[in-house]
Amino acid sequence: MSQITILIGAQWGDEGKGKWIDYLGQDHDIIARFQGGNNAGHTLYVDGEKVVLHQIPSGIFHPGKIAALLSGVVINPAELCKEIQMIAEKVQLNPENFLISEKSHVITPYHIRADQLSESSLNRPIGTTKRGIGPAYTDRSQRSGLLMSEFCNPESRKQWIQARRTESPLFRQSWEEDQNLWKEFESSATMLAPFICPVEARIRRQLSEGTRLLLEGAQGTLLDLSHGTYPYVTSSHTIASGATTSLGIDPRRVQRIIGIAKAYVTRVGEGPFPTELHDEDGRLLSRQGNEFGATTNRPRRCGWLDTVAMRYAAEVNGFDEIFMNKLDILSAFDKISIATHYHHPQLGDINTFPEDSRILSGCVPVFRSLPGWKQELKTEGTFADLPQEAQNFIREAEQLCQVPITMAGVGSGRNDYLKLK
Ligand code: GDP
Ligand code: IMO
Ligand code: MG
Repeated sequence: MSQITILIGAQWGDEGKGKWIDYLGQDHDIIARFQGGNNAGHTLYVDGEKVVLHQIPSGIFHPGKIAALLSGVVINPAELCKEIQMIAEKVQLNPENFLISEKSHVITPYHIRADQLSESSLNRPIGTTKRGIGPAYTDRSQRSGLLMSEFCNPESRKQWIQARRTESPLFRQSWEEDQNLWKEFESSATMLAPFICPVEARIRRQLSEGTRLLLEGAQGTLLDLSHGTYPYVTSSHTIASGATTSLGIDPRRVQRIIGIAKAYVTRVGEGPFPTELHDEDGRLLSRQGNEFGATTNRPRRCGWLDTVAMRYAAEVNGFDEIFMNKLDILSAFDKISIATHYHHPQLGDINTFPEDSRILSGCVPVFRSLPGWKQELKTEGTFADLPQEAQNFIREAEQLCQVPITMAGVGSGRNDYLKLK
């Protein structure tokens, strides 16, 4: 059992991280989100009931666990309060089991307005979740953001709002026209204040006492601000090194880095997606997989597994292993394809993921076709319990990704998985 585990989305998000954080949460004491905000939608099933979490870490439903939001997170206070209330029947959050970093940043109604405005005025919109994520991180980098600790102090909050009203016409417009949102925003400070603390120092101290920590990623590797398909990315560092930055810890202390992937690929929003399907196979993936965003309910674009992108994700994160989700969705297919490499009209065959989105946009995937298994998968067991064709698919994917695939997701329920190794 490792003491620090990082869990990362290996594709463009929605890989099924929520389910595995819930699973791994059993063996960890603290589960901490290290980036992103309520652009995330993590689905899990607790006692057979579906729960979608946007800001609270997904390991909180096991008794005795601590959930934390670290410095790299941006928080929508009013939405967080609603989420705390939504789960109150299942778990009561209190300052003992829920910690919010005083250094995390706040998403205000102004940031949401700025996100919406920028999306509607761009020639080529990014397709953001319009939750104010980009503008909140912009303020953070510009050193004009609102810290969670300042938000919860009425005097500092007032001063910050006053300064921004003076500086920014768009802020003034939001202040005047979004009055209800601002009221809700300000009143949520009272509820959140007791959770604010120096989380990072506390976790570092507890680690020296043997506490086991799970660092929960949101979004996915290919949405990383530096290493994703820029500009079609989110505004935070979604990869493993983002976790150690957000916590402030020696990266060498991390023992286990797990990549979560789907057995195929989905993407929400704009941007290059080489294996995307526009045919009946794509529609079947979407239907069988029920591929609609857990946050915005937008249809997710669907395509075959892309091992060029997976090799890249393994490299930039240092995956020790991959958990491959939604294998059951492929049961509907006579034939299944896996992209082994790309072909580019000018550059020829390409085996490594082009880090320039313009080159990526010109890449055509080269597929290997495998026979499907066309039968329902057992929802528990080991590698040997899979049909021969599914075993071949896993072996092939593993070889092409160059990382061991140790778990397979075969259903959305808490116990719908096979241990492959
Ligand atoms: P996340 O953002 O990475 O946590 O993923 P989402 O919750 O946005 O999307 C994953 C969806 O797939 C959710 O609806 C899950 O309930 C569902 N899911 C997760 N694992 C599996 C699996 O192995 N099989 C099936 N059929 N559904 C799964
Ligand atoms: P989880 O954690 C899938 C995408 C948006 C858009 C881009 C930028 O559930 O996997 P943003 O609102 O972050 O500025 O949008 O990133 N995006 C996600 N796609 N899953 C997510 O989260 C996402 N969070 C953001 O669709 O393309
Ligand atoms: Mg999601």
